[in-house]
Amino acid sequence: MAGDHDTITDARKAQLVRLLDHDCGACHGLEREGGLGPPLLPEDLRQRSREALVATILNGRPDTAMPPWRPFLTRAEARWLVDYLRAGRSDLSQMTQR
Ligand code: HEC
Repeated sequence: MAGDHDTITDARKAQLVRLLDHDCGACHGLEREGGLGPPLLPEDLRQRSREALVATILNGRPDTAMPPWRPFLTRAEARWLVDYLRAGRSDLSQMTQR
């Protein structure tokens, strides 16, 4: 999966993680344990299709509280978020190369 994320800078990755904690966390839980929205834990997402999850993030889910994030995220960034969510918090250092 490495090559896919080459265009996203470490600074932008840090922003994406903040978005995840603040904006997504409002509905999905700060620890992604679920709330108004379903849990986004690795074990929940690993069995789902990556592209379907990316599409959900970019387009939202009509008639649910899940909003479209297309105005704020590129497809590459949405993919990175899905991979990040699937990897789980312990892999953060690896993915941001800090
Ligand atoms: C206003 C509340 C809200 C916010 C903010 C929100 N979501 Fe959601 N999200 C939902 C709801 C509700 C669903 C379930 C929709 C359904 O019933 O199909 C959902 C579904 C999802 C799914 C699909 C999960 C699955 O199991 O199919 C993903 C992935 C997701 N959200 C990611 C995100 C990400 C990433 C962000 C931040 C960029 C975010 N969400 C922000 C409410 C929200």
